[in-house]
Amino acid sequence: MPGRIPENILEDILSRVDIVEIISGSIPLRRAGRNFKALCPFHHEKTASFMVSPDRQIYHCFGCGKSGNAFGFLMEYERLEFLEAVEALAKKAGIMLPEAEKQDAKTVSLVTQLYKINELTAFFYAQNLISAQGAPARNYLLGRGIKEETIKLFKLGLAQDKWDALISHLRAKNISLSLLEKAGLILNKEGGGYYDRFRNRIIFPIFDIKSRELAFGARVMDNALPKYINSPETPIYIKGRNLYGLHLAREAIKEADYAVVVEGYLDFIMPYQEGINNIVASLGTALTAEQARLLKRYTQNIVMIYDSDKAGELATLRSLDIFIEEGINVKVASLPQGFDPDSFVRKNGAAAFKVKIKEAQNLFDYKLNILKARHNIKEPEGKARIASDMLPTIKKFKNLILRAEYTRKFAEALNVAEHYVAEELQKIKEDRPYTGLNEPPSKKALNINPTEKLLIKLMLEEAEFINRIKDNLEPADFQDERISRIVSIIFDLMKDGQEIVPHKLINHLKGQDDILQVVCESTFLPEVSGQDREKIVDDCIQRLKNERLRLKRQHLHEEIKTAQLLGDEEKLGRLMQEFHLLVTAKAQKDK
Ligand code: UTP
Ligand code: MN
Repeated sequence: MPGRIPENILEDILSRVDIVEIISGSIPLRRAGRNFKALCPFHHEKTASFMVSPDRQIYHCFGCGKSGNAFGFLMEYERLEFLEAVEALAKKAGIMLPEAEKQDAKTVSLVTQLYKINELTAFFYAQNLISAQGAPARNYLLGRGIKEETIKLFKLGLAQDKWDALISHLRAKNISLSLLEKAGLILNKEGGGYYDRFRNRIIFPIFDIKSRELAFGARVMDNALPKYINSPETPIYIKGRNLYGLHLAREAIKEADYAVVVEGYLDFIMPYQEGINNIVASLGTALTAEQARLLKRYTQNIVMIYDSDKAGELATLRSLDIFIEEGINVKVASLPQGFDPDSFVRKNGAAAFKVKIKEAQNLFDYKLNILKARHNIKEPEGKARIASDMLPTIKKFKNLILRAEYTRKFAEALNVAEHYVAEELQKIKEDRPYTGLNEPPSKKALNINPTEKLLIKLMLEEAEFINRIKDNLEPADFQDERISRIVSIIFDLMKDGQEIVPHKLINHLKGQDDILQVVCESTFLPEVSGQDREKIVDDCIQRLKNERLRLKRQHLHEEIKTAQLLGDEEKLGRLMQEFHLLVTAKAQKDK
């Protein structure tokens, strides 16, 4: 089994071992309230600052910042590789892992069976869609501008509004419930028995490069939530490993020598239908390094077009660094506010979309523009803040000529002598978080806004709070960049219908030690008692909203000053009005 173990197996293992038992096998633990304490095994200390939480199944050292779940502890303490740690704990938990060399006949045939089941399932859903009862669903799709032939090409389908339509259909073909469960198509009922995972939804099969059905996405036909549900990870489907539509797009990508990367199913389908065939979708989450590598087989050039909202912006920025690390050439195309590729193409046509692609900005200009909108590039403090966000990106260029060139451009944009920028760049260590403004990061001091940290803690304790926060805030509203990355990952996992608890979340943070530390530290904040919790969440949300307003006002104020300086009357009028609206809106709320 090459490299990665499906998430559900990892979770299975974690749920069957106890971190307290594992750690106390190596070092003596003492009880401290709900937690356990010890002298940290990872750095020298005289008073115990190493904490283990039995409730959350994680550890964190307040002295040196080392944190993690049971896998992390074994890796750190026993100096094991990740896979070795997984193997060790799997053994302890009595769970069989599919092994690399002797991937036995049984596993191979399970994989084959899963492909077969998915194929039958896709066919069943597709039949439903073209049957008489599929009329409303077909009308929904036609209403969104999707043509009959496109429905066929993508094998779109319909899951009926029944609890057992798929179960009965496949049981009649003698397929076992246990296989259906492994395929992620059915779910366990509380009182025993099973029901279909996908009900009353449009089905989008997800294909691999060989056009085999790997998994499914399913959309409601109205405004109900969640909008999409997706297959869980299975032995054949590992999220972030493949790209939606690549099986249809790869020839066109090779030919055009660039790929357009979008976010959603329909953002892929609509442009594709209209003749833009060199396109793939990342499906919701930010692009992974594996997806980038997959694209690199066909082209070195990528144009990203994500939604024009803050979440899209954040996802884009995260993906950019990954592309650079992979040595891929990235550009970013922007759509007018409120559009996504699907709605843009439907309204303006493919030709207009191609113009947007042509006008795509290179990554450097794109990121710089975002940063300039956040900070004042004319002020020294603003310059430093922009640099602290931009330099790590520049550092990611492996090609020194490119790095030098961007350093030069950046110095020019900041209007700072180039050698200072180059020197600052030197200070960045490849895999250490860089905060240009502070002292070299001492791992101890996680200087995070307490409101934001508290919200992380509470989100990890009650899923209900995640929804509440999602309704009110966007990841970008969190001022600490690490926190906004965590929030965005939590939102992504929530979208996927995953359970969000610290020790599982940690499995999604590989290679991001900076935010791992934030998650663990937040988890160990003092408990908040039951009846106050909701109020506290609301207060925190309000505080961040106020902060967002304040920053917006400040930003507008700066823009107004610039417009005044430049004597741009037209712009000034517009800005003043915006400012006025903002201030009065706030006054209303304060009443
Ligand atoms: P969007 O919310 O942008 O939806 O999510 P969309 O693709 O524009 O969908 P339409 O146009 O309203 O039908 C982008 C992608 O994020 C994933 C899906 O892959 C979706 O295409 N997603 C979104 C989920 O997995 N679950 C959700 O609840 C929402
Ligand atoms: Mn859309």
